[in-house]
Amino acid sequence: MELQMTPEQAGSRIEALRKILHQHNYNYYVRSEPTVSDLQYDMLLKELQDLEKAFPQFDDENSPSRRVGSDLNVEFESFMHRYPMLSLGNTYNREELEEFDQRVRKVTGDDVNYYCELKYDGVAVSLTYTRGALTRALTRGDGTRGDDVTRNIRTIRSIPLQMQGTGYPAEFEIRGEVILPVEQFKQMNRERVARGEPAFANPRNAAAGTLKMQNSSLVAQRPLDCLFYYIPGEQNLFHTQHESLESARKWGFKIPAYNRLARSLPEVYNYITHWESARDQLPFEIDGVVIKVDSFRQQRQLGFTAKEPRWAISYKFRAEQAISRITGIDFQVGRTGAVTPVANLEPVRLAGTTVKRASLHNADQITQLDVRIGDHVYVEKGGEIIPKIVGVAREKRKDGCEPFHFITECPECGTRLVRREDEAAHYCPNRTGCPPQIKGRIEHFISRKAMDINAAEATIDQLFREGLVMDAADLYSLEYDSLVRLERFGEKSAQNLLDSIEASKQVPFHRVLYALGIRYVGEIVARKLAEAFLNMDKLMAANRESLEAVDEIGERISESVTEYFQDPLNMKLIQRLRDHGVQMAAEESPAGKSDLLAGKTIVISGVFIKHTREELKELIGQHGGKNSGSVSARTDYILAGENMGPGKYAKAAKLGIPIISEDEFLAIISPV
Ligand code: IVH
Repeated sequence: MELQMTPEQAGSRIEALRKILHQHNYNYYVRSEPTVSDLQYDMLLKELQDLEKAFPQFDDENSPSRRVGSDLNVEFESFMHRYPMLSLGNTYNREELEEFDQRVRKVTGDDVNYYCELKYDGVAVSLTYTRGALTRALTRGDGTRGDDVTRNIRTIRSIPLQMQGTGYPAEFEIRGEVILPVEQFKQMNRERVARGEPAFANPRNAAAGTLKMQNSSLVAQRPLDCLFYYIPGEQNLFHTQHESLESARKWGFKIPAYNRLARSLPEVYNYITHWESARDQLPFEIDGVVIKVDSFRQQRQLGFTAKEPRWAISYKFRAEQAISRITGIDFQVGRTGAVTPVANLEPVRLAGTTVKRASLHNADQITQLDVRIGDHVYVEKGGEIIPKIVGVAREKRKDGCEPFHFITECPECGTRLVRREDEAAHYCPNRTGCPPQIKGRIEHFISRKAMDINAAEATIDQLFREGLVMDAADLYSLEYDSLVRLERFGEKSAQNLLDSIEASKQVPFHRVLYALGIRYVGEIVARKLAEAFLNMDKLMAANRESLEAVDEIGERISESVTEYFQDPLNMKLIQRLRDHGVQMAAEESPAGKSDLLAGKTIVISGVFIKHTREELKELIGQHGGKNSGSVSARTDYILAGENMGPGKYAKAAKLGIPIISEDEFLAIISPV
C-alpha cells in the first residue's frame, strides 16, 4: 500500500507514526500504563518499519523502530548487562510461523526440533549468581543497561537466593519473567479499591509497578512469582534448550511444567492451539507462546540480528475479544462519590464467562471511543475484574444513533456532579445525602480489615433504609429491641450483631484510622500514621509538614489527611465514635519497653510476616538489645524470616548460633 504513496505522503505518515510510537513507548515503559494492546502497537511499528524501508530518505536514528524502549528509572542504579537482553520477533498467524520455519531450515539445512514454551506476561529480569549466591538482579532497561532491583527481587520467595545441587558455573546468569498470578492480582486490586486507591489495569502492570517500588518490605507483601526461561551464554555447558532448563530446575529455579518438545511444525501448531483456548485455566497470564530451536548447535548457526535471536520467535495470541451491542449505560457511585460509567451489553461469551456489563472508565474514555447506545462494541478481557470496551464497530452503527453525553447530575441523589482538576472522574459532592456513598462508607468501616463487624451488605442496606444507621457512629447506638423487630432479624442475629459491634471497640487505633476511609489511607499508611502520632488528637493537629516527615507519607496523602480533618462533619463523627468507646489511641508498643534483651546482639535476616525489618530493629532496641548486620562469634541470636541469606545461615551453623523465628522472638520479648 505504501508503494502507492507519494514520498510526501509517506514522509508525513512516518512522522506521525514516530510521534504516536514514542508516546506509546513512554506510556508503556515509563508510566507502566499502556493505552494500546501489544497487537495495536506491533501493527503501528510494522507499518513504520515498512514505510521506512520503502522510503529510506526519511531515515532517522532516533526513530522508535531503532530501539526497544526503556524502563530505566532514575531512582535505581543501573548496570550493564553481561549479555544484552534482546527481544523476540512476533508472529500472529501460521503463515508467518511457516516463514520462520523455512528461514530456520534454510540455514540449518537439517531436521529441527522446536522447544515450545509459554510466553509469560510479566516483567523480564536477569539474575546473576556468583558461586551459587544471588548477587544481582537487573530489569531489562534499554536492553544494554538495566535497573538494579536486587533488593526487591530477594523478597520473591520462589527465587533461590542460593542455588541448589552442584555443577553450576561459578558465574551464572539466568533470565525469567516476574509475574503476579491472576487470583492474587484480583485480590490485591479488590483491596486497593476498598482503600480508595486506583486498581492496576492488569497483572503485568501490577508486577512492573511492584518491582519498581522503593520499599522492598512492601514488595515482600505482594505475591510476586518468577518463571524462568533462558540461560544466556552457557552454550558449552548444555546441548539443548530443554536440557538447560532441566538443569536450571535442578538448581532450584521455577521452570513451568508446560514446556514441550515439538518434532515438527504440526506439533508446534498443536501446542499453540491448545494454549490459545486453555490459557484461562493457567494460574498466570500469558500473551502467546515462544518457539525456540532446541539444539544449541543450530542456534549458533542461526545467530542473532541486532534486536533478536534468529532461533526463536513468539506467536502472540490476540487479546480475547467479543463483539456485542450496548443496550444502555449505567452510572455507579462509589463510597468516595466517584461516578463510573458501566455499559450494559447483550450477553456474550468471552474467555470462559458470559459478559453482560463492561467498564467505560470515565467521560474521556467515552468521548475518545465515541461510544453510543446501540453501538456494537469490541469487549476485551485482560486481567481486569470487569471487561473493558476497546473499540466501536463503526460500520455497524445505525443512523440516528446519537452521541452520548455524560450525565451532569448524580443518578442516585440528583446533585450536580463536579470534576476535580487533574482528575478524569466525575464526583458527586453530596457526601452526606447520597445513599451509595453513605452505605459504601459504612461497609468499608465494618469490613474485616477495618472494624471487623459481622454484617452483610444487605443488612447495612436494611439498617440504612429503616433509618437506623446513617453513619458509622450510629452502629454503636443500635438497640436490641429495635433490631429484633426488623424483618429477617431473629433474636440470635440481633444479639450477634450487637456483640460484634461491642467487640469492635477493642479494635486497635490503626485499624480505626483505616476504617474512617480517608482517601489514600490504606492499611499500611494507617499503621504508619498511628505509630508516628500515637493518638487521634495529635494526628488531627498535625500539619502537612509533620505528616510528610513520616516515612512513606507524601504530598498526596498529607493533603488528603488534612482535608479530612478540616471537615466539621468528620470531626463530629470522630467525636461520636470516641464517646462510644472506639479506640482513639495506640497502645504502647506490643510489650512496651523492657531490658529482656539487654546485652544481646541480634542479626536479622530474611523476610518477615508480622513485622517489617525496621519494626523488628526497633523492637530489639526497645528491649535493650543491639541489632547487628553481620554474623560473628559475638552474635547471640539470628532472627530469621523466609529466604534467610545463605551466607548467614552457613556462618550461624558453623558458630552454633541459635536461629529463632519471628514468633519465637516475639515470645521472648513478651513473656506471659
Ligand atoms: S526467550 C533471547 N522465553 O518475552 C531470547 N522470553 O519479547 C530471550 N518472555 O524479554 C527471550 N516468556 O520478557 C523467552 N518463555 C519465554 C518467555 C519470554 C516471556 C518475554 C521476555 C522477553 C520478551 C521478548
